[in-house]
Amino acid sequence: MIEQVKEGVLYYDGCNTIELAEKFGTPLYVYSETDILNKINEMKECFTDKYERTRIAYAAKAFGVMGIFRLMEREGLCIDVVSGGELYTAIKAGFPPERIEFNGNNKQIHELEMAIEYGIGRIIVDGIEELSLIEDICKEKSKEISILYRITPGVRSDSHDYIVTGKKDSQFGMPLDDHILMPAVDAAIKSEVVDFKGYHFHLGSQLFDNSSHLQAVEILLELIEKTKDKFGFEVEEVNLGGGFGIRYTTEVRKPFSYFLEPMMERIEEYFKDKGRIRPEVVIEPGRSLVGEAGMTLYTVGNIKEIEGIRKYVAVNGGMPDNIRPALYQAKYRGIIANKASVEANDIVTVCGKCCESGDVLMRDVALQKAERGDVLAVFTTGAYGYSMASNYNKNPIPAVVLVKDGRTELMVKRQSYDDMIKNELIPESMR
Ligand code: LLP
Repeated sequence: MIEQVKEGVLYYDGCNTIELAEKFGTPLYVYSETDILNKINEMKECFTDKYERTRIAYAAKAFGVMGIFRLMEREGLCIDVVSGGELYTAIKAGFPPERIEFNGNNKQIHELEMAIEYGIGRIIVDGIEELSLIEDICKEKSKEISILYRITPGVRSDSHDYIVTGKKDSQFGMPLDDHILMPAVDAAIKSEVVDFKGYHFHLGSQLFDNSSHLQAVEILLELIEKTKDKFGFEVEEVNLGGGFGIRYTTEVRKPFSYFLEPMMERIEEYFKDKGRIRPEVVIEPGRSLVGEAGMTLYTVGNIKEIEGIRKYVAVNGGMPDNIRPALYQAKYRGIIANKASVEANDIVTVCGKCCESGDVLMRDVALQKAERGDVLAVFTTGAYGYSMASNYNKNPIPAVVLVKDGRTELMVKRQSYDDMIKNELIPESMR
């Protein structure tokens, strides 16, 4: 177990959380390397180890710092980046460019130039316009690049509206309409500078039902067939995206095999029946590899009881380090780390320190009776927590520490006040 209680104190991957809070300060993001490795191994077992010609490309947006890129590199994964910044960070971490894939609905010319210059593995192209930008850059630099087209299969999946992307009405990818997609495919196949490999879809995030993935696979197979009929072109690679749901509070995480095996079985069977070689298959999980591994430690400050209404427990972080409750009404579970053996029977609302009523981390949850100075641990903050952090109200972004079997290593230093103002200038007219 990653979470353990010893003498009333919460331990995380073998580390005393109170000592972590003392040593590194709070708020603090803590990542369990053991949990990340367990997730990677579970995914490999039912996917890359089980089926040949498959790859896992970790979606860096979930948590994309140099340390994590190193870990993914060591474990043999590829990564998926979506900006020049993520690409730069990965390259700086020494990540092999040929194992980097680049997604995004509006990649900038300088970002495409960087990607082509570095010689990354794949660009997932969002439309025909982007194809011609890429071709121009390749010609200018005398380079070639492998690409896939991102398609929107038009299936609905069940998650928060902001994180559902597979429906037709979406700013991502290309709709399946023949008059739009087919000329783009024709152009990519004929291109002298891009090597067209196939298709990509990503349906949404935090999904618990595999039906939208399976529906999308059927649509993908039809498209592969159409591409063969129309252009005599055999698709060499498909990318099935990410989106596998994790446990925040009461959810039961589905094993990765629940998503991956039925998709793989269907694809394998399809090509076996036709007597053709099946395309290489790539997936792009983000949240499911790092989400459950991360937690945040806070220090309790003011406690305010509004009689007959609600008791607020304020902590020294909040929406700047975790925007998800405010943005998606996301729910979390927590524990007072220094009272971990005490019964959680106080119903409280944990709020942050920002000047916003929406800065609530957990609403009406049962917690151990909190007092000023206690350390609150909030679980499952590993995905889209640090990566969506801001300096709102000029709060510095917390440090990130990696823990494993009692060992602790700093992965990101806490921002200082000076760090926050280092790009600020007083206009000449104000001096
Ligand atoms: N591939 C593509 C093209 C994506 O857009 C995403 C996520 C992923 C892979 C990884 O999805 P995952 O396995 O992490 O579900 N900020 C939101 C989540 C946004 C997801 C965006 N795309 C949140 O905090 O819930």
